[in-house]
Amino acid sequence: MSTSRKYLIAGNWKMNLNASEGADLASQVVSMFGHQTEVSVCVCPAFTALEAVSNAVNESNIRLGAQNMHFESSGAYTGEVSAEMLRHLYCNFVILGHSERRQYFGEDEVIVNKKTKAALAANLKPIVCIGETLEEREAGRVNEVIKTQAEGALAGISAEQAENLVIAYEPVWAIGTGKTATPEMAEEVHAEIRCLLASLFGEETAEKVRILYGGSMKPGNAAELLAQKNIDGGLIGGASLKANDFAGIVEAAIKLSK
Ligand code: 13P
Repeated sequence: MSTSRKYLIAGNWKMNLNASEGADLASQVVSMFGHQTEVSVCVCPAFTALEAVSNAVNESNIRLGAQNMHFESSGAYTGEVSAEMLRHLYCNFVILGHSERRQYFGEDEVIVNKKTKAALAANLKPIVCIGETLEEREAGRVNEVIKTQAEGALAGISAEQAENLVIAYEPVWAIGTGKTATPEMAEEVHAEIRCLLASLFGEETAEKVRILYGGSMKPGNAAELLAQKNIDGGLIGGASLKANDFAGIVEAAIKLSK
């Protein structure tokens, strides 16, 4: 990774852990990494655990993220949560366009774009997820899919705003499957994403944007993935639910930062 970017290790807890379980795990993360500054560490609990986890990470360097939000700031949208509501709980980040949202909840580029703009306007850092399915990879369509998803999600965003963006490359076939992209496979796509960002926002801005890898990252493979030039962190699912596994990944990033 370039020295100008700080690693970001973000735990996506998905639909796991209630408020008290979440606060317990967050407290463990705080006691291990709450006072280091070499790596940005973030936990993304379910909505119902955000307040308890926010209190647990308060006054530490652990950042808080949400897993989704609506693009409107308020109104008659039953079951939804706005960017302002997340900011009120001291969220710094919000995961947008995760493949599970695309697959199960019908999110497309237009929706992800609206959410990304709304998050940036509310001073939340969006972690915009993109990635191909196995079918798309086997058909040789990786670059095309990445381009469509990235350009769609980021349409109309200024270079200045883009400095607050985080992109997560999550090959769908690697999520929760135990199959990881090899470091070389991942780096190839990350480099492609960096080129896309340069064409959208200019080279200088593209160099500042963190591009995370997600998909079966664990302590055993984190170091070799994070050592790649364009891999600036990880978006961790399963392994983020176990304090020791999450710690192993954060430690790998700390070691590479020195
Ligand atoms: P796993 O780490 O469980 O494969 O999940 C990755 C992911 O989807 C993170 O957003």
